[in-house]
Amino acid sequence: SPSDPDLVERARAAKEKLGDKVFVLGHHYQRDEVIQFADVTGDSFKLARDAAARPEAEYIVFCGVHFMAESADILTGDDQKVVLPDLAAGCSMADMATAEQVAECWDVLTEAGIAEQVVPVSYMNSSADIKAFTGKHGGTICTSSNAQRALEWAFEQGSKVLFLPDQHLGRNTAVRDMGMSLDDCVVYNPHKPNGGLTAEQLRDAKMILWRGHCSVHGRFSMDSVNDVRERIPGVNVLVHPECKHEVVAAADYVGSTEYIIKALEAAPAGSKWAIGTELNLVRRLANRFAPEDKEIVFLDKTVCFCSTMNRIDLPHLVWTLESLAEGNLVNRIEVDRETEQFAKLALERMLALP
Ligand code: 13P
Ligand code: SF4
Repeated sequence: SPSDPDLVERARAAKEKLGDKVFVLGHHYQRDEVIQFADVTGDSFKLARDAAARPEAEYIVFCGVHFMAESADILTGDDQKVVLPDLAAGCSMADMATAEQVAECWDVLTEAGIAEQVVPVSYMNSSADIKAFTGKHGGTICTSSNAQRALEWAFEQGSKVLFLPDQHLGRNTAVRDMGMSLDDCVVYNPHKPNGGLTAEQLRDAKMILWRGHCSVHGRFSMDSVNDVRERIPGVNVLVHPECKHEVVAAADYVGSTEYIIKALEAAPAGSKWAIGTELNLVRRLANRFAPEDKEIVFLDKTVCFCSTMNRIDLPHLVWTLESLAEGNLVNRIEVDRETEQFAKLALERMLALP
């Protein structure tokens, strides 16, 4: 929908007043009305890497979700303040693994006698607490663009991986990209005693997958894939690795949001694409490439935005920028020192992956 011209002008004026004091980052799932004000756009890896690109900026306004803002705080200078325009912009997947649950899981692995062989690999989509747990236990963070390299690194450190919190990214990477079998994977359910697993199952597994998922990507099904292939002959199915294993196995291409954009940039005119990821991004791509005659459709028939990404809208951005321009620091995201120290260790291991 077209943005309110009055709000656009207010955001522009406040940003201009702030000048070099503000650095605005925007994740690819953000609304068009917000993304137009981003100095840098990216997938979660690129945004983590680029967060520290402007050490002179006093404020980093993160248009994305809570775990991304926490990661930016961890990776930037102590005098830089990270701001999330709406504090309710969380991620339901990240909420599926709490510090208490993960500590309990580690006890279960210790009881089963395998903790020493296990290396935790945590998806970026997790709280700073989970990242700190990961750093403390010798593990690394990964994103959807480097999950395979992170797992390869982890299997050089130990013989088993505890993958948190997205079971699908863990399974898809292990099975589709690294040739492991579905039998090498077990699912740890934090709501069941011992994760719902026997000590023997834990000892036999290579990949211990946390029972978390993304509800947005969980909506894509085999029906969505079969239906679009029937409707659009010759269509290329391109999905995010947070989709279920069967969907990823049936897709032609799989990758992060940044990968999806690059794939469409490289696609020939006249090609047809069905995209399985969040709708703001798919719509933006469909509009961008329509004049080049690339047909781009959403993989499912129903609408599916990420409701928490969508919480960051133009009114919230205007309020944030105007507050900062008036010297009011609002909605700061600040990770405590001890958590930060260990979480940073895990994030830096990711940034150092080959
Ligand atoms: P990307 O790292 O691919 O941008 O994914 C982030 C995310 O939250 C996907 O749901
Ligand atoms: Fe979290 Fe899914 Fe939204 Fe990504 S799309 S931020 S994983 S809820």
